[in-house]
Amino acid sequence: MDTAPKKITTAHLRQRKAAGEKIVVLTAYDVAFARLADRAGVDVVLVGDTLGMVVQGQASTLPVTLDDMIYHARAVVRGVTRAHVVVDLPFMSYQVSVEDGLRAAGRLMKEGGAEAVKLEGGEEAAELVARLIAIGIPVMGHVGMTPQSLHQFGGFKVQGRSADQRQRILAGARALADAGAYAIVIETVPAPLAAEITAAVAVPTIGIGAGAACDGQVLVMHDVLGLDPNFGARFVRRYAELGREAERAFAAYAADVRSGRFPSPDESYS
Ligand code: KIV
Repeated sequence: MDTAPKKITTAHLRQRKAAGEKIVVLTAYDVAFARLADRAGVDVVLVGDTLGMVVQGQASTLPVTLDDMIYHARAVVRGVTRAHVVVDLPFMSYQVSVEDGLRAAGRLMKEGGAEAVKLEGGEEAAELVARLIAIGIPVMGHVGMTPQSLHQFGGFKVQGRSADQRQRILAGARALADAGAYAIVIETVPAPLAAEITAAVAVPTIGIGAGAACDGQVLVMHDVLGLDPNFGARFVRRYAELGREAERAFAAYAADVRSGRFPSPDESYS
């Protein structure tokens, strides 16, 4: 009997932690790649605000707007039938007031088709998390090297090395879990800290650059596929070199057009 769930829910993700089964999370930003990730059995598709960097070519996630997130979420949702779809709240859509955050999250759900929202921050985000959950919006937290605080950190740097940072990140993760977050992303922290958080909270932790002890892992799709051959980071493993392959295909196409080899009679109508 096939016991695999037809649709992954937040409840399934909690069960995975209890059962010690790893959770697979991957970002996606459009229908074609979201469909492939879903077919491949990825558990959670994250429409990340990394789209500012990998799709829009910006230097950070800060310029991404709520409308950008809704646009990409709508495309991703059309390609997914089984995976759980979570969408990032972009910078300044939730930091000023709880009301802003409620409205922004509502738009991601109502207009974007999100099944949950993700937001960055620890203790300072707990009130919003609790309010979102109270109105029926599941929340994934995000602690550690939270990219929307890039300039506060002075770059994309490992967080949680000092005792102060360690305490703040651990307290933040506990506060998110206590407020009702169903999962917590832990980004670019020392592996022992991620292991400590994973043991301390009852909800699944999803690591990126946070070691193997997390309950699941997330990577940016473009990094997994090697779409930008010039980008690399210690925590990224490339599973394909699609960037190089795409460049090769484009060059072959250009050569065929220029030499008259494309289109052939078989590729033309009589
Ligand atoms: O925006 C994003 O893609 C993310 C992941 C890197 C966790 O937040």
